[in-house]
Amino acid sequence: MGSWKKTFRGSLWVFLLSILVRIAFARGENSIDGAALNGLASQWQNAPSNWDGFDPCGSKWLGVTCKKNRVISITLSSIGLQGSLSGGDIQNLSELRTLDLSYNSGLTGPLPASIGNLRHLEYLILSGCSFTGAIPAEIGRLSHLEVISLNSNKFSGSIPPTIGYLSDLYLLDLGSNQLIGTIPVSDGANPGLDLLINTKHFHFGVNQLSGSIPSKLFSPNMTLIHVLFENNSLNGSIPSTLGLVKSLEVLRLDRNSLTGPVPANLNSLTKLSEFHLAHNQLNGTLPDLTGMDFLTFVDMSNNSFDSSNVPQWFSSLPSLTSLYLEYLKIKGELPQALFSSSSLQNLKLRDNQFNGTLDIGINYSNQLQLIDLTNNDISTITTISDGYNRTLILTGNPVCNQNSVRLYCNMTVFAPPSYSTSLKCTTLPPTCPSDQVLSPNCQCAYPYTGTLLFLAPSFSDLSNNTNYLMLEQGLRDQFLQLELGPVDSISLQKIIVDSNNYLEMSLGIFPFNKTYFSQVEVTAIGFFLSNHTYQPPSNFGPYHFLGLQYPNFNVSPSSKKSKNLPTITGVAAGVLLLILICLCIFIIRKKRSTRLEEDRQSFASWEPKSSGSIPQLKGARMFTFEEIKTCTNNFAEMNEIGGGGYGKVYRGTIGNGQLVAVKRAQEGSSQGSHEFRTEIELLSRVHHKNLVSLVGFCFEEGEQMLIYEYVPNGTLKDSLLGKSGVRLDWKRRLRVALGAAKGIVYLHELADPPIVHRDIKSSNILLDDKLNAKVSDFGLSKSLGVDSRGQITTQVKGTMGYLDPEYYMTQQLTDKSDVYSFGVLLLELITGKKPLERGRYIVREVKSLLDWSKDLYNLKNLLDPSLDLTTLVGGLKQYISLAIRCVDESSAERPTMSAVVYEIEKIMRQASVNPSSASNSSSVVGSTGTPVRHPYESDGPSDYSGDVAYPRIEPK
Ligand SMILES: *[C@@H]1O[C@H](CO)[C@@H](O)[C@H](O)[C@H]1NC(C)=O
Ligand SMILES: *[C@@H]1O[C@H](CO)[C@@H](O)[C@H](O)[C@H]1NC(C)=O
Ligand SMILES: *[C@@H]1O[C@H](CO)[C@@H](O)[C@H](O)[C@H]1NC(C)=O
Ligand SMILES: *[C@@H]1O[C@H](CO)[C@@H](O)[C@H](O)[C@H]1NC(C)=O
Repeated sequence: MGSWKKTFRGSLWVFLLSILVRIAFARGENSIDGAALNGLASQWQNAPSNWDGFDPCGSKWLGVTCKKNRVISITLSSIGLQGSLSGGDIQNLSELRTLDLSYNSGLTGPLPASIGNLRHLEYLILSGCSFTGAIPAEIGRLSHLEVISLNSNKFSGSIPPTIGYLSDLYLLDLGSNQLIGTIPVSDGANPGLDLLINTKHFHFGVNQLSGSIPSKLFSPNMTLIHVLFENNSLNGSIPSTLGLVKSLEVLRLDRNSLTGPVPANLNSLTKLSEFHLAHNQLNGTLPDLTGMDFLTFVDMSNNSFDSSNVPQWFSSLPSLTSLYLEYLKIKGELPQALFSSSSLQNLKLRDNQFNGTLDIGINYSNQLQLIDLTNNDISTITTISDGYNRTLILTGNPVCNQNSVRLYCNMTVFAPPSYSTSLKCTTLPPTCPSDQVLSPNCQCAYPYTGTLLFLAPSFSDLSNNTNYLMLEQGLRDQFLQLELGPVDSISLQKIIVDSNNYLEMSLGIFPFNKTYFSQVEVTAIGFFLSNHTYQPPSNFGPYHFLGLQYPNFNVSPSSKKSKNLPTITGVAAGVLLLILICLCIFIIRKKRSTRLEEDRQSFASWEPKSSGSIPQLKGARMFTFEEIKTCTNNFAEMNEIGGGGYGKVYRGTIGNGQLVAVKRAQEGSSQGSHEFRTEIELLSRVHHKNLVSLVGFCFEEGEQMLIYEYVPNGTLKDSLLGKSGVRLDWKRRLRVALGAAKGIVYLHELADPPIVHRDIKSSNILLDDKLNAKVSDFGLSKSLGVDSRGQITTQVKGTMGYLDPEYYMTQQLTDKSDVYSFGVLLLELITGKKPLERGRYIVREVKSLLDWSKDLYNLKNLLDPSLDLTTLVGGLKQYISLAIRCVDESSAERPTMSAVVYEIEKIMRQASVNPSSASNSSSVVGSTGTPVRHPYESDGPSDYSGDVAYPRIEPK
């Protein structure tokens, strides 16, 4: 008996201990993450030198971001890592959301199946490494994945069908690997890529995929923008279901072995801009492109189409820049209208049967660069004016028997001058050490370099320098705004079109006022390019970047650190402490997760899967489609007051005579129902005089419409830019600032749960008839769900120029991100300038000029000239100081919005502005002849509008 008891007690102890140990390890998260990272680093050469010890969060390891002491992000781009991911350590990083190991060409070996344990992973970015083997099917378990970027590796095997389970996936980039097999689609038992109805990008180019393109792959439910299947071994015919994906903008099926006719319904893809079918064996009639008015680049060369006459659409595509129809059998006379299409750049029509007279006319496109008609049957040519200096190639045509056209008959090669960034030296440039490079601003430095590959640009004229200048400028602006290390200049070199018809160039990024970037800066720049935060000008289209390893200047070779292993007693004490802490955490967690579950359930009806269910909301009314149609006079053009990528905004009058603004999502709008739903959900529970209010919505007949109160004086942005007829003097600007700030305070502090707007900017502040500010556009807003003052990790969204750099770098959203944007808005109010324009970023400019000892604090040249300086005196210093604190790099240093309100009120008292009475302002409001451009959306494509993260880049 006694011994039985003893055994029992013994095993009870063992049992209890094992539970405690297990809890300790399950909840001793920090040390587990530390151990996992150490495990990874032990398989790598060139792991960051400060990865030392066991506390990645406390001691701020390079490339590691933590939240609540767990590692949530690892970004180690371009630092020369060598080794593999095998060894099973990665799976322990169970809270990881972002993994960016891009541009470490020394990383090899397979992607381990245990990656499937990283259940929270949102971004998986391994571009430009040397990973091999098959992509593990377990990737399909990562249900939060938004970005899979595996391009430019050596992955083999086939595409795992389980990717079809990833319903949040936005970008699937598998390009430039060695993938084989067919494109998987679902059947009764298995998933497939046809289930990815929220995915915008299929980038599968340059692989060895085979079999036919499954008809099942495409359906009207899909929202794809880019389908890039070029340079594979796909055969069979093009499925007609492709014509159902109305959102498509770029389609590349070229360089495969496709056969059969091109489905006639592809011409219903009216948003298509780049259309590549070249180098296949397609037959049947030449596709009819009539009505595809957005087409810019068409390449159908080298196919087996039936002989045909010059098609009608040759003279009717208004946006065409590039028409490549080489080695086909098209016959007949070229219409003169073809050459006068105003955007036309390059016409490559060699080896066809064009005959008769060539008449370029005199109204040919002023962008025209090349007409290549080698080996056709052209017998005469009308006089070409002496001023004609574009390239025309007529070699191999009967017309060459005439002496007068000899000039055009000996040309074979066409090599446009290649752009490269020019030096802007004011003095004789220095001679650089052999391993350094001269920057465009004539400094010797170690640039961060790599190759930019544009996969489907919409232009073909490589000699147009404006394109590259915009590219350089845009890159610099975006670096500037995100404070990704101090960037001096950008250089572009060696611009070519490669054999895949990719526009390729080498990119150099030079540090400012120093010779090299730190490792932290390098990983940030790498991430900016690898996760597609960088937005090129829209005509450059989708891209890959391939970074080169950047030398590490931090490591002094003498001090090789050894890892300080904690002592045994340390471990024991640690375990005990952890047991205690973890038990607490465990209990708290449990409580929280129940609450989270409740929250989820309350939004259950928003899940698109249970679509058809109609949101039940208090406050906002549901309208029928008929009602809206009547109220906007059948969406009459004269009622249009705004528009953007998502659709249009109409003015209307509802039953009770109330004026409303109706935001109508365009059919197939890629901005998706998600933002509409977010907006309804949020707006229907917030009510404040400084927030635009929602009157109702309509979800009927496939339409998505939001109905807002009508705000007559348009956006603050238009007023500041003098576009609206509203003149804002200093007092009015202070009132607008105060109103907007109060609206945001309401969101942050009074809404339950609190809301972060995420897109505070002057185009989202509307002015009513008394010039009261109303904050609008809640499409990107986020509830700070569970713990009210806490942080949430989320895909970075916002608008360039207003985006909080700390939020971008850490991906941790707090209400202080809105404070940053509001600070930018304060600066915009006083300078009257766009925050980010032509290389000038308002925040940086003000910070660098500011000098409290000088007259007007040395900002005289920045202040809006239309402001009467004498009215500014009272409170100017406090105003500037407030703005500067709002845009502090560290969110912790920024004031809360209620502190901002308090200070603005103080400033108004100093400037003797009565905060409440705005009534006497209204009399000065100019009556505008034309309706004010309406507000409910971001700006046009000329600014870096929309979002930063790739997931919302929608080329126009
Ligand atoms: C498309 O969506 C509808 C409902 O939204 C669904 O009934 C239908 O099965 C889907 N079609 C495909 C091909 O997935
Ligand atoms: C087109 O090609 C397919 C497959 O190569 C062939 O079966 C078919 O007869 C061809 N059609 C025409 C019209 O040439
Ligand atoms: C050009 O070719 C077409 C089709 O073969 C033919 O009908 C036409 O007569 C030709 N025109 C000239 C001027 O040779
Ligand atoms: C062609 O001539 C026009 C005017 O004569 C000139 O503006 C243009 O720069 C020239 N283009 C080239 C490529 O030489």
